[in-house]
Amino acid sequence: MATTSAATTQQSSLTNTILHGNCIDEMHEMPANSVDFILTDPPYLVNYRDRSGRTIQNDVKADWLKPAMQEAYRVLKPNRVAIMFYGWTKVDEFFAAWKEAGFQPVGHIVFRKTYSSKSRFLSYRHEQAFLLAKGRPPLPKQPVADVIDMPYSGNKLHPTQKPIQPLAQLIRSFTLPGELVLDPFAGSGSSCAAALLTGRRYLGVEMDDEYYQQASERMARVHARTAIRRSS
Ligand SMILES: C[S@@+](CC[C@H](N)C(=O)[O-])C[C@H]1O[C@@H](n2cnc3c(N)ncnc32)[C@H](O)[C@@H]1O
Repeated sequence: MATTSAATTQQSSLTNTILHGNCIDEMHEMPANSVDFILTDPPYLVNYRDRSGRTIQNDVKADWLKPAMQEAYRVLKPNRVAIMFYGWTKVDEFFAAWKEAGFQPVGHIVFRKTYSSKSRFLSYRHEQAFLLAKGRPPLPKQPVADVIDMPYSGNKLHPTQKPIQPLAQLIRSFTLPGELVLDPFAGSGSSCAAALLTGRRYLGVEMDDEYYQQASERMARVHARTAIRRSS
């Protein structure tokens, strides 16, 4: 059950919070053109289950994909970018949803892993994300490479937990300190943690009770750490 409902979203400051709910509803309550950057890792639509049996909600049917991308486009400020991971086996569905929402693909990022997530026809060792523009964003002064190393996160808090370092690198490249980073599929809050650690504001949304709890507790730890750092 949602502890922070869509109805209360608008009253609460949309900053440094993880909302517990469906991101389509939560974003629907947000003002248009209100976030500076979206960095997110939605379900890959692969019915994933890890060795310990952990699964991901909305990882089978794609009925959420188009409405979520429409809302993401609406809440992103004009002339800004979003970075969205996706599952390569469902690239056509993701691409259709992005294009229909209005996003223009302006780059593609390969995250090189040191381990294989799976071995079949290939030993699968990368994750991927599209860089998507709303309008005509300015170019970064020093563009980051579109191949980025992705160390193993350990997946302690979430079965597909992303490591902080590559996310922090992207946040630094596409935002200024103090700007607002949105992750509508927050999982354990990796993008939100990366945003806070780089001096940005964050807003995460997570629908799963367990992962919402993990993300909230994690962000409390990161807030405590950054407060100690500031006071010393
Ligand atoms: C691939 S995982 C994200 C993992 C995250 N990058 C991390 O490092 O922990 C996608 C997350 O989106 C959540 N999710 C799926 N559909 C959602 C929706 N409509 N609204 C909010 N969260 C959703 C799932 O519960 C899952 O935790």
